[in-house]
Amino acid sequence: MCGIVGAVAQRNVVPVLLEGLSRLEYRGYDSAGLVVVRDGKLERVRSIGRVAELTEKSKNTRGLIGIAHTRWATHGAPSERNAHPHISKNHIAVVHNGIIENYEALRTRLTAAGYEFTSDTDTEVIGHLIHSHYARGNSLLSATQAALKELVGAYAIGVIAADNPDQIICARRGSPLLLGVSDSEYFIASDVSALLPVTRRVVYLEEGDVAEVGRGGYRIFDATGKRAERAVQTSELSEESVQLGEYKHYMQKEIHEQPQALADTLESVCNSQTLVPGIFGAEAAATFACIDSVLILACGTSYHAGLVARYWLEEIAGIRCNVEVASEYRYRTSVPNPKSLVVVVSQSGETADTQAALSHAKKLGHDHTLAICNVPESALVRLCKLRMLTRAGPEIGVASTKAFTTQLAALFLLTLVLAKQRGRLTAQQEQQHLHELRHLPGATQKVLELEPHIARLAKQFAGKQHALFLGRGLHYPIALEGALKLKEISYIHAEAYPAGELKHGPLALVDKDMPVISVAPNDALLEKLKSNLQEVRARGGELYVFADANTHIREADGIHIMQMPEHAGYLSPILHTIPLQLLAYYVALQKGTDVDKPRNLAKSVTVE
Ligand code: M6R
Repeated sequence: MCGIVGAVAQRNVVPVLLEGLSRLEYRGYDSAGLVVVRDGKLERVRSIGRVAELTEKSKNTRGLIGIAHTRWATHGAPSERNAHPHISKNHIAVVHNGIIENYEALRTRLTAAGYEFTSDTDTEVIGHLIHSHYARGNSLLSATQAALKELVGAYAIGVIAADNPDQIICARRGSPLLLGVSDSEYFIASDVSALLPVTRRVVYLEEGDVAEVGRGGYRIFDATGKRAERAVQTSELSEESVQLGEYKHYMQKEIHEQPQALADTLESVCNSQTLVPGIFGAEAAATFACIDSVLILACGTSYHAGLVARYWLEEIAGIRCNVEVASEYRYRTSVPNPKSLVVVVSQSGETADTQAALSHAKKLGHDHTLAICNVPESALVRLCKLRMLTRAGPEIGVASTKAFTTQLAALFLLTLVLAKQRGRLTAQQEQQHLHELRHLPGATQKVLELEPHIARLAKQFAGKQHALFLGRGLHYPIALEGALKLKEISYIHAEAYPAGELKHGPLALVDKDMPVISVAPNDALLEKLKSNLQEVRARGGELYVFADANTHIREADGIHIMQMPEHAGYLSPILHTIPLQLLAYYVALQKGTDVDKPRNLAKSVTVE
């Protein structure tokens, strides 16, 4: 989604702003812009499309202070006039991530006060509001603080003024923002990856913080306006981890990083002889002892991880588990159970719906909260009592891959720890699971060897309009995830069903033009699944079956088999995910789509 970069230095900051924006491209955007102070005036450049176009248009722009933005349209279509920065009375410039909910009322009031609106965005009210306070003689900091008090909604903002070439004011509530610290150069950004070429030393702003950033340093004020100290941290993100290297796309790179990501996520457990609740935080043992159920809240791919976990938690740990789409849960009337463990699952830790669902759960009296998340400094991690960090490393491709399989690994650990605590895991079973987890990265590597085969197969999908994914039990959510991957990046309409549901409706769609992709593990439901596949074949449907060894499903006319390794038991969903990711990737390549930045989508969905 939208991205922010800002800089104040003793040199021309335009290259820093542009490089920062290009590093935020992965978040998804449709226009970009920047503004600098030059000779006491604001100089703004905006463009529709890619940062490369903005770079071309900014060739002659220079300034020692500036703010920049990539915009993912919410209020108002993608257009130059809606692109940020927005400027009030040629004097105050603002970039903004988030949504201002009361913008209509503010717009009416500011229009009546003589402010002219030149865009359809909610953001423009922020600049005018700040200007209205600034014009009354307040400092830029006080004017911004006063304006923020009038806003309802979520924001991360950067503000500069034409007559103040030394200061950026920034603030956050509901959207992430951080400061970058270097020798006599200071930066702001919505994501640390934007600042890696200039600094690794960062300060994460907390909810409600406002900061004044100048060449000589910075001051932070908390939500009540009091001076606040926030630790300077050194980001562990390396340049290498955000570079493409030998790969054509980030998605391909991230698919291939899964063995390492899983090994890193499981490291502390696999190096130990026993499972302990402490991997979820110091208070985990006490919390787990008093819960009687689990409620998982998440969106998209992370929701699919939760769906797999429900099978594990109920079967292995014997604990009741509900899984809800966060955007539904936050608005429905549910029956709270304070003894439930609320687990939020998220790659980014900033997804607006998941954050809102968590605060809704807390308001309903849910006190036991656990975040399974890939970003240590994220809002969800800070807002939960317990946490387990997946160690997938930065995920740049919009289509989530390594984040998903590492979420599954973390949720499996949660299952085992709860099973042990509830007396449902013998010492022998514990050792067996640990043994299988240690082999998981290697098994994942083996599945990646299917890549050339899948690349060939993908050619058959290029002309298709629709596809059906089937799975049963633990692998039904994997079919859902396979369908999501395919539609997200290849724009082929894909649906997933539990295979037993076919004859209750979707079978009507099956004909020779409908590819049916089936996840076929060698588990207790295999024979049932084989009957479902016969139902498809009998209607002329073309079958693509990802079959474990010894399933005895044979290649035949209209039946294509991708041979998976031996059945991996409870961990099988992790292995079966990988060929479906590869299939989506190679079909997208065939179709020539923008794999890492599919149309209309954003990496972190920080607005509702
Ligand atoms: O960062 P999160 O895991 O909370 O994001 C949730 C979804 O927006 C995300 O999984 C989305 O569905 C992905 N693009 C799927 O590939």
